[in-house]
Amino acid sequence: MLVVDLGGQYAQLIARRVRECRVYSELVGHGVTAAQVRARNPHALILSGGPASVYADGAPQIDSEVFGLGIPTLGICYGAQLLALELGGRVERTGASEFGKTDLTAVESELFAGLPEEETVWMSHRDTVTAPPSGARVVASSRSTPVAAFEDPEQRLYGVQFHPEVVHTPHGTELLKNFLYNVAGAPPAWTPAAVIEEQVERIRAAVGRERVLCALSGGVDSAVAALLVHKAIGDQLTCVFVDHGLLRENEAEQVVETFGGHFHVPLVHVQAQERFLSRLEGVDDPEQKRKIVGEEFIRVFEEEAAKLGDVRFLVQGTLYSDVIESGGGEDGVAAMIKSHHNVGGLPADMRMELVEPLRLLFKDEVRRVGEELGMPEGMVWRQPFPGPGLAIRIIGEVTEERLAILRSADSILQEEIRRAGLYRELWQSFAVLPAIRSVGVQGDERTYAYPIVIRAVTSDDAMTADWARLPYDLLETISSRIINEIPGVNRVALDLSSKPPATIEWE
Ligand code: XMP
Repeated sequence: MLVVDLGGQYAQLIARRVRECRVYSELVGHGVTAAQVRARNPHALILSGGPASVYADGAPQIDSEVFGLGIPTLGICYGAQLLALELGGRVERTGASEFGKTDLTAVESELFAGLPEEETVWMSHRDTVTAPPSGARVVASSRSTPVAAFEDPEQRLYGVQFHPEVVHTPHGTELLKNFLYNVAGAPPAWTPAAVIEEQVERIRAAVGRERVLCALSGGVDSAVAALLVHKAIGDQLTCVFVDHGLLRENEAEQVVETFGGHFHVPLVHVQAQERFLSRLEGVDDPEQKRKIVGEEFIRVFEEEAAKLGDVRFLVQGTLYSDVIESGGGEDGVAAMIKSHHNVGGLPADMRMELVEPLRLLFKDEVRRVGEELGMPEGMVWRQPFPGPGLAIRIIGEVTEERLAILRSADSILQEEIRRAGLYRELWQSFAVLPAIRSVGVQGDERTYAYPIVIRAVTSDDAMTADWARLPYDLLETISSRIINEIPGVNRVALDLSSKPPATIEWE
């Protein structure tokens, strides 16, 4: 199933929803040609919403031959308007824009089969389809939008003005299922087990008898990628875990125990703490720190790879959101906001071929694959942790002393968040150590010590995030434990910023 991206965040959400219906979906740019679509041979197309007006200069268009391919097509919002405009309907700005929850009345039809006649849907539009494509029948309307949905079963063209992909349209998923299963005949066959089976086959075919290397970071992505590859080719895989000294408390031990011990994957544990810390000495610029960690990582990794002899492939846990965010989607050009150093990044002159078994998966899908592979819950549900580690959570210079403070604070924070049962609800929760000190009083003595900032966010994919509304009692426990248990800290603050405009990490 292909989702044609006509702008903004809509397309990605649609792709996710379709996958939740167990139909594999991929995003393509609206520049995709009819020939390219035909070559992909999808069960169906969904045209996404988008912020433009179909009449505006430079408004996203689609190769009109796409509509003649006979592929079941569902237009959503802007996508529906584009369908109408292309195929003999009419789109106008009637002054009757709708934003938010809207009452809808539907008639018996393919899209609304099994759905109530009256339902609430989420609308967000200024332009309105005033006449459906020629041959199409109007199957739903709202007070201000007479053509809120149309369908032409003969041409296999469907359009809805509202957004079935958002949670505020309670029956949206059912409508999508009607389209996917009944109209398009796409079976709900895309399960974690199916993903594993397909990837294992692909890996075997790509790798043959060659040797493969994988950089393990301890995070769920590289872990699932490594396990998939291990399942496919067994001991042809060697994992390298570089401890750069910027990990959290007990993290290195956990990785070695779980991976080497539990999964019996050949594992090289490199203790490179001193190398990293000495290169970070005196450095306080965030980008500089990221660069140093990235470069040093590659150097250590190259040395280890050289020791292993002839290795032809490198595993990377790249995710679909990385691909989209780095502008690697068909024609998406996302701005580079921070120089993301992905642990396991390919050294430029290493001449290894990449194996990226997660390249088309979103994070939650990776987790489901991890569960299916039998990975322990603690690892599957581990919150993301950045490659440069605590170096980008210590503002200013990274020193042993400051690392120790941050590690202790982070460990208390994690413990309390888990105890409160919130760990899995949060995308990330962590402590940040700023480069300031402030005055306090402890016992009868004046202190001059660091504050710790609590950062906890909810998010689906890290592209946007909101600060988590942690309960006051929990915050109090965390604060008093951090201040009482960690010498060198006399104050705790809470970060109340969303992304954008802030980022999740502080550096
Ligand atoms: P920001 O701070 O950009 O972070 O909102 C978005 C997500 O990416 C993680 N992150 C990184 N992950 N290497 C990584 O592997 C990095 O250099 C890096 N920088 C940020 C961050 O933890 C959050 O989940």
